[in-house]
Amino acid sequence: MSTPAETGRKPVTLHRLREMHAQGEKVTMLTAYDATFARLVDDAGVDTILVGDSLGMLVQGHGSTVPVSLDDMVYHTRCVARGNRTAWVIGDLPFGSYQENREQALRASVALMQAGAQMVKLEGGGWTAETVHFLTERGIPVCAHLGLTPQSVHALGGYRIQGRDEAGAATLRKHATELAQAGSAMMVLELMPSAVAAQVQADNPGMITIGIGAGSGTAGQVLVLHDMLHVTRGKLPRFVRNFMAEGGSVEDAVRRYVAAVKDGSFPDEALHAY
Ligand code: KIV
Repeated sequence: MSTPAETGRKPVTLHRLREMHAQGEKVTMLTAYDATFARLVDDAGVDTILVGDSLGMLVQGHGSTVPVSLDDMVYHTRCVARGNRTAWVIGDLPFGSYQENREQALRASVALMQAGAQMVKLEGGGWTAETVHFLTERGIPVCAHLGLTPQSVHALGGYRIQGRDEAGAATLRKHATELAQAGSAMMVLELMPSAVAAQVQADNPGMITIGIGAGSGTAGQVLVLHDMLHVTRGKLPRFVRNFMAEGGSVEDAVRRYVAAVKDGSFPDEALHAY
């Protein structure tokens, strides 16, 4: 096992991520759910690893993220933390682990942080602001998640683009600002027009926005690892690029993803955006 010194990269911190954003360097994020892939994406230079509750579909075979439990997330966060050396690790708070009240969210976040997460991610608009504030005040960095929020897939009526009309876009912008004011350091913006995501970033310049199907105007990008390697079965969304087709190995594909996000060639507004 090589150490961070051997891989030539210092552990990525929130301070470093903020510095990158301030200097205009794009932030890269990929999902990982186990030690082997965590080690691989870290070695390939990904800045941040998301232990996403998308593992419900990709590892557990469910039809959505709704059945994923906190115990599941703790287990996979532990696995990722053991494999990772330097990337910043974000753990997803699963459905039902933070909606009740802020104390419930704190207990769930503590479980993820003690399993090795350095930040927790939760889905939802302004109604989560009080919880975000409560967690950040207690030393838990928070990543918000707006737009298409997969835990609400049944309420949203499917995996649809959000914020398409004026009212929807205004609501997204309002929620983003509330979450930024509450102390959220990072924010995933999923499946929305590029112009709306870019406006959210402009409204909240210090926020590290991470887009997925949200165009090129965000501070960084995330993809689900299985999607960008094209091992996910079924039809993939328009915003996914097949990096495996371009790379000679999984690690090479991840390195190409990192390079493409950093140099701004991914996402391509003509191919991967709305
Ligand atoms: O769970 C997940 O993989 C996610 C990404 C889609 C951002 O939340």
